Amino acid sequence: MSLLAHNMTTGTAQIGVTGLAVMGSNIARNFARHGYTVALHNRSVTKTDALLDEHGSEGNFVRSETIPEFLAALEKPRRVLIMVQAGAATDAVINQLADAMDPGDIIIDGGNALYTDTIRREKAMAQRGLHFVGAGISGGEEGALNGPSIMPGGPAQSYEALGPMLETISAHVDGVPCCTHIGPDGSGHFVKMVHNGIEYSDMQLIGEAYQLLRDGLNLTAPQIADVFADWNNGELDSYLVQITSEVLRQPDAKTGKPLVDVIRDEAEQKGTGRWTVKSALDLGVPVTGIAEAVFARALSGSVAQRRAAIGLAAGQLADAPSDPARFTEDIRQALYASKIVAYAQGFNQIQAGSAEYGWNIKPGDLATIWRGGCIIRAKFLNRIKEAFDTDPNLPTLIVAPYFRGALESAVDSWRRVVSTATQLGIPIPGFSSALSYYDALRTERLPAALIQAQRDFFGAHTYGRIDEPGKFHTLWSGDRSEVPA
Ligand code: ATR
Repeated sequence: MSLLAHNMTTGTAQIGVTGLAVMGSNIARNFARHGYTVALHNRSVTKTDALLDEHGSEGNFVRSETIPEFLAALEKPRRVLIMVQAGAATDAVINQLADAMDPGDIIIDGGNALYTDTIRREKAMAQRGLHFVGAGISGGEEGALNGPSIMPGGPAQSYEALGPMLETISAHVDGVPCCTHIGPDGSGHFVKMVHNGIEYSDMQLIGEAYQLLRDGLNLTAPQIADVFADWNNGELDSYLVQITSEVLRQPDAKTGKPLVDVIRDEAEQKGTGRWTVKSALDLGVPVTGIAEAVFARALSGSVAQRRAAIGLAAGQLADAPSDPARFTEDIRQALYASKIVAYAQGFNQIQAGSAEYGWNIKPGDLATIWRGGCIIRAKFLNRIKEAFDTDPNLPTLIVAPYFRGALESAVDSWRRVVSTATQLGIPIPGFSSALSYYDALRTERLPAALIQAQRDFFGAHTYGRIDEPGKFHTLWSGDRSEVPA
């Protein structure tokens, strides 16, 4: 154990971290590496000591075993970052801390909390004179250590005391920190949730592109790795495309086969994608790309149904595409177009959430802080930032000039991919629903008029007319004349 581990000076630490599993440890090390004195605490002291043993020399740490000892080590107002399991554990730790803290102290929850829990907790802490900041942190283990993207909500006043530290340890792109105050109470965790939803969608679309290359063109995993590496040099330049290439190139030590070929094809989830879709349903925002991605994971894990359906007839299938290079380029375009739709939908959900809760979130700021550190970091986030800078009230990203141009130049390829995949019997829920969304938005008259008439027929739910204001009802079981509702 390093000498610093035994530095029991009280009141000198600028930040305390409690919950020293992988994410918590790495964030604590990140603070220490940037010159902050970091008080350490974990429910069981073994994790604290393990961190000090392995990394105690990286900076100034203050070891503590109990919460009073931990709080005594911090300068005031105290800043305590909680990195424990979301849910009941977070509530337990918040209450233990709050009981021992003083008015003006700041509790930061850096876990993946549900934003409604954050709203509740912030209110409860405010009543006790404490500041509560729900901060979304993205970037996984590596991001936590070397610079994550940080999305802090909570009172603006607490950001003054906290923001500079969080900005220092966050990732930076072009000298700009990937951290900014998102808005009041649960806004930080809300945008982190939607970020994760977009991540689900991005991964599903990449998965579909991979399957089309594998089953449509019979390419091997290393060959597909080359395709993704090539794509990563262009508009698709992003962390997820880059790691896809690395994953596909990885051989399995046991069999010598590509690792991806020996991994069970059942995707798991921790729940943030599902939360995103549930919230979108409540807000009435069609995040079809995210929903398809969440359901696609659920379908992959529906083992009994999949087993029962093996051998069902595919019908007459088309031959493999005759021009592999052209089909590969079509897939690239379809991936890019579908990805734009997924982000457009996610940003609509953020705008709707912001309006619902009065958060005043600036979508352009989000695009800025997602450019580095986080899992969905991608070159094209610069374009999203530009789009919202030009028009902060953009109704949908897909009509911003850059994205409109990108979609219009991709749409022929996109249609070819969706129809070819259908004829090859390859499932592409993400690509096809994104294209349907695009087509639906640009369609002048949707079949919703018929739905309104049906609703009026069986439930007298009334309808609006295209040529007159007001609501109307047809006397369906009477003489079928129309009456004002
Ligand atoms: P990871 O997924 O990175 O392992 P996690 O499961 O989200 O992390 O969180 C684990 C952390 O939450 C651990 O620090 C754990 O403390 P222990 O090391 O003592 O197990 C902490 N934790 C879980 N439940 C807790 C509780 N009820 N009170 C305090 N800390 C708790």
